[in-house]
Amino acid sequence: MEVILQPDAAAAALLVARVIAREIRRQPKLVLGLATGRTMEAVYAHLACMHREEGLSFAACRTFNLDEYIGLPPEHPASYRQYMNQHLFSQVDIDLQNTHLPDGTATDLTAECAYYEHLIVECGGIDLQLLGIGHDGHIGFNEPMSALRSRTRDKTLMRSTIEQNAEMFAGELSKVPYRAITMGVGTILESKRCLLLATGYEKAGIIAKALEGPITSRVTASALQLHAHCTVVVDYAAAATLEETEYYRWIFENEPEWQNF
Ligand code: F6R
Repeated sequence: MEVILQPDAAAAALLVARVIAREIRRQPKLVLGLATGRTMEAVYAHLACMHREEGLSFAACRTFNLDEYIGLPPEHPASYRQYMNQHLFSQVDIDLQNTHLPDGTATDLTAECAYYEHLIVECGGIDLQLLGIGHDGHIGFNEPMSALRSRTRDKTLMRSTIEQNAEMFAGELSKVPYRAITMGVGTILESKRCLLLATGYEKAGIIAKALEGPITSRVTASALQLHAHCTVVVDYAAAATLEETEYYRWIFENEPEWQNF
């Protein structure tokens, strides 16, 4: 795992967008794993801007989102499909047929989850998986105690996650679905590269646990310590309680990947 520190949230989001852009330019048929949430909005805004101003093309990309609420149709304003349409898909030249999210309205959820896993494999696996982190340490909606080998499945959300996401439902907790389909931790770990972004003081405690604490299903993001190619980008606020920051800075300054980046 490599950890990159950036002074603020804006610089961290820009760096993540530039990593994604570089991978798309290297490999136009990139299979991109996507996340939703407030943190990602700035990343998608940068990618949209790179499309408009630098000709970054998503035309050959295929995408798989981490999760979707159960019970929300794709046209629901708070569905993750709508989030993706609004923040990225409508802003770039991606073919919507190449964009995938789990179907939260499927009548047979087990079959839907198996189908989603099948689609990922059929596309050759995820090349680059973008991740945020929840206050409880979740990646995707893999809440505490999710098996570190879990696959795409339906999952009941923690109360704290429901509260975290209530904003999209006008702050009404009762309107937030309490179940979602999510890629499993095992599914995420099979991506060729993981790229996690976390910003803000409120993520500092959980970031320290995930990056420098023990690998545990209580903090599913800690499973990323097992990944062979995982980059974590944090702003100084989210890095506030990390212990190895001097070492992370040294690596960033000396790793060839980041020279002249
Ligand atoms: C959403 C997802 C979640 C979020 C996480 C952080 O698709 O997978 O794991 O990335 O909850 O959300 P924000 O950025 O809103 O703090």
